[in-house]
Amino acid sequence: MSDTATLAAVSPLSDRLLAMNESATIAMAKKGRELAAKGFDVINLSFGEPDFQTPQYIKDAAKQALDDGYTFYTPVPGIPELRQAICVKFKRDNNLDFLPNQIVVSTGAKQALANAVLSLVNPGEEVIVFSPYWVSYEEMVKLAEGVPVPLVGTLENNYKATASQLEAAITPRTKLIMYSSPCNPTGAVFSREELGAIAEVLARHPQVYALADEIYEYINFVGEHASLANFDEIKDRVITVNGFSKGYAMTGWRLGYLAARADIAAACEKMQGQVTSGTCSIAQRAGVAALAGGRASSDAMAAAYRRRRDLVLEAVKDIPGLNTPTPSGAFYIFPVVSAFFGRTAPDGSTIRDSSDLALFLLNDAYVSSVSGEAFGAPECLRFSTAAADEKLVEAFRRIKVSLAKL
Ligand SMILES: Cc1ncc(COP(=O)(O)O)c(C=O)c1O
Repeated sequence: MSDTATLAAVSPLSDRLLAMNESATIAMAKKGRELAAKGFDVINLSFGEPDFQTPQYIKDAAKQALDDGYTFYTPVPGIPELRQAICVKFKRDNNLDFLPNQIVVSTGAKQALANAVLSLVNPGEEVIVFSPYWVSYEEMVKLAEGVPVPLVGTLENNYKATASQLEAAITPRTKLIMYSSPCNPTGAVFSREELGAIAEVLARHPQVYALADEIYEYINFVGEHASLANFDEIKDRVITVNGFSKGYAMTGWRLGYLAARADIAAACEKMQGQVTSGTCSIAQRAGVAALAGGRASSDAMAAAYRRRRDLVLEAVKDIPGLNTPTPSGAFYIFPVVSAFFGRTAPDGSTIRDSSDLALFLLNDAYVSSVSGEAFGAPECLRFSTAAADEKLVEAFRRIKVSLAKL
């Protein structure tokens, strides 16, 4: 047998797949579900999922689409009404001018991000990923055979990378920067001034593109949402990603989009055309209705997330050893938990890192969280605050009791 044949017998899976990490959020949610199936009362704070129902008017539009027999393949980049509605949204909310041929609708913002990374990044090119980052960014870059370069913000600056840090990180091999604002996992929000300074750096490096993930736009507790694409000198090199999952509580519908220069949008359409084609026809009709309905339902949900953030911040104040910055948006808290590293659990095991701590909290407090490691911040733990108030209160009561055992 040849060497390749022997290897194939050991694992038929590709090197690409074997090099990829499983999504840590999905893995923790799976562990939590396993415990729950054994009858334990697990509070799941690992998933980034709104606990609200999709607003009724959006569901009604989907029912209507079904009744209209709207069940056929759609154009790969999305139905014309939705692409047009997204242009209107960009003008209304972000003062951005796009034409429908610059919009690509995808199966979630996740696919929009993957389309952009796979369409832009060549093997060996560097992608500067503002860190802490959303778990999938690094893996998408690796899938494109690019080199992820984490750019770590400081705790003092709410983990936001600065323009001077960015300038220092850019090399002749840099192709792309990627970030989310509001940020998952930190909840940090870039101001217009901060993005302006970043735009000035990018203006000096014409080979560098930017992937701005604005999926949490509507969950912003500080007011203004700023877009990198607002800066004229670089707007042609910015790909703006957004979607319906978080702002409209539509995670299961799988509907997201990007806006970019027409040739980049066409590239993403080509990529998507070979992988999934146009996303669900019914979901797209629901998306048109969602946007036409404006922001009222999203704003009501954001008010609830803000109340829950405050409730959780109040609860963690009482827990020694957790250092929790105040999130300005999204629905997570991301405390520094390194004070617990090296401590001994009641079963005699040592808490070596945040993965051990997340497992300890799952098994002792029946609360699932996610280790900061997968987000590029191994000293942190991420808790979702998108749960009912009473669940949050109970979860942090249990966490306090469990942490006191260490
Ligand atoms: C920062 C960020 N971007 C993108 C996504 C993916 O969104 P969607 O569910 O629309 O694919 C998520 C979901 O958790 C996210 O947190």
